[in-house]
Amino acid sequence: MNDKRLEHINISAFQDDLLKWYEENKRNLPWRENNDAYRVWVSEIMLQQTKVDTVIPYFNRFMEKYPTVYELAEAEQQDVLKQWEGLGYYSRARNLQTAVREVVETYDGKVPDDPKQLGSLKGIGPYTKGAILSIAYNQPIPAVDGNVMRVFSRVLHIEEDISQSSTKKLFEHYVEEMISKEDPSSFNQAIMDLGATVCTPKQPLCMFCPVMEHCQAYVEGIQERLPVKKKAKKQQKKKYIALLIQNQEGKYVIEKRPDSGLLAGLWQFPMIPADDIMKKDWQSWLKENYGLEVDIEESCTAIKHVFSHIIWNVDVRKAMTNQEAIEDNRLKLVSLEEMEQYPFPVPHQKMIPFLEEK
Ligand code: ADE
Repeated sequence: MNDKRLEHINISAFQDDLLKWYEENKRNLPWRENNDAYRVWVSEIMLQQTKVDTVIPYFNRFMEKYPTVYELAEAEQQDVLKQWEGLGYYSRARNLQTAVREVVETYDGKVPDDPKQLGSLKGIGPYTKGAILSIAYNQPIPAVDGNVMRVFSRVLHIEEDISQSSTKKLFEHYVEEMISKEDPSSFNQAIMDLGATVCTPKQPLCMFCPVMEHCQAYVEGIQERLPVKKKAKKQQKKKYIALLIQNQEGKYVIEKRPDSGLLAGLWQFPMIPADDIMKKDWQSWLKENYGLEVDIEESCTAIKHVFSHIIWNVDVRKAMTNQEAIEDNRLKLVSLEEMEQYPFPVPHQKMIPFLEEK
């Protein structure tokens, strides 16, 4: 390791300045009411790639419904997905429930404080493991995400590309060197808060930074150029026709997505992949793939949804069918009232206002 970077910093003074600032400025967040490991765990899973402000209401509702590992372990997966509806990355919710069930069965309901045991649970990678062990169990373990890499890339002037997964190890090494051994819980949370409120991606508020005088990037005036992050590949674009198919009784056809892959296990309105299908042959495609016979109307709206790797452009159309029963076991006919119980991804939630009572 190139520890030349640590030669310029007084680690103990850095810790003192950071922890003092945190004590006075820490954000009042619902998962900070206590250090319960289950609450920390749920919050960290929700906070991966979703903003704090968005997470707060989800977290509060989730804790009301599943206050301990036992309620979550016993819940129906579809209900858990319903609670997660709109947060995205639904596999995180399924993995969380799988892991919580293992905690109940194998560890008598106590979230393990042993790094090996904790890290072997489904969906717990190095970041979540470090966050739980440090925040809930006060162990001096790094929890490195994008925000933490931004702060440390500036403090220590690190120019390695943070989009490379190998770079994370480098940051873990430096956090290990710099983390407070007396109060690792506050140290990691202080770095998170600093990254969110002061050491922001654009126009960081260096004048308000408690560790400004320890910051190499500030000294050199290059804070806005760090961290170095290579541009991600462009998302792949996919076109679909989504059909709001109503039958004579006023029920709509919905479809359960496969158990793996994008939006696994969620429900949607049937979609025709419009890139692959000959322009006007939607009807025979539906007959062949779903056994559905439908009349398709004009477009009622267009929806664009950006996922991390894919962009959907969906042309939404109303459609009619005379079928009372449906053979394909992915499909269900449901009334508007029944539909409320099913978890839908955001682009399909946006279609629900176009449905009509018969
Ligand atoms: N971002 C990720 N984890 C966080 C936490 N525990 N508190 C605040 N922001 C966070």
